[in-house]
Amino acid sequence: MKKKFHKVMDNPFIICKNMYLRPVEISDASSIQKWHNDPELRKLARYGELPATLEKEEEDIKAASRALDEAYLMVIKKRDNKPIGFIRVNDLTSSTRDVWLRMIIGDKSAWGKSFAEEALRSVLEWLFYELNIHRVTLGTYVTNKRALKFFEKMGFKREGILREAHFEDGTYHDIISFGLLRKEFHKK
Ligand SMILES: CC(C)(COP(=O)(O)OP(=O)(O)OC[C@H]1O[C@@H](n2cnc3c(N)ncnc32)[C@H](O)[C@@H]1OP(=O)(O)O)[C@@H](O)C(=O)NCCC(=O)NCCS
Repeated sequence: MKKKFHKVMDNPFIICKNMYLRPVEISDASSIQKWHNDPELRKLARYGELPATLEKEEEDIKAASRALDEAYLMVIKKRDNKPIGFIRVNDLTSSTRDVWLRMIIGDKSAWGKSFAEEALRSVLEWLFYELNIHRVTLGTYVTNKRALKFFEKMGFKREGILREAHFEDGTYHDIISFGLLRKEFHKK
């Protein structure tokens, strides 16, 4: 049977098989706030030390929307037009063409379904083949086993360790720095 998708995509910027990515909007603030405050997600990828308020999220979205070196993209499921997370890319005007990426699939029911892989792959294709970006950098807590495995599966290489740069459950932990060069990325 053919998959039924929600008929209209809302302002798509990158379209993939099961999802599309569109620029963040003020109306996304409450979803993002929930993900940033979620105790389990905070352990995996912390946004800030303090509780995320709607006002701060809205300010952040406004600032990102005005920024000339940042792409803040919501990952939307085509099937029901629901946001499941975001991918954020900074330093897009860097002279070394090295950008910083951060992603959260905040809807945990969307984990383990290749949605994250599909969305990240499409963003990497956009960065490497449309924007001519040379490398993508990101950091992951050493305690976040799922993300470590995910980024390695996506081809990222472990490049360094930020020793005891993360504090969790009363203990310091390392942050693993990852990088991916365009020549290492394999288009599907
Ligand atoms: C990291 C994230 C994007 C990955 O998306 P996902 O849909 O969960 O990823 P996948 O299921 O495709 O891949 C995760 C891999 O880790 C494995 N895994 C899951 N839980 C694990 C655990 N506790 N220990 C080790 N490996 C684990 C999975 O089996 C899978 O490997 P496989 O493809 O070989 O089976 C998503 O989980 C997320 O947004 N997490 C919260 C935010 C975050 O951690 N962001 C990253 C920091 S920038």
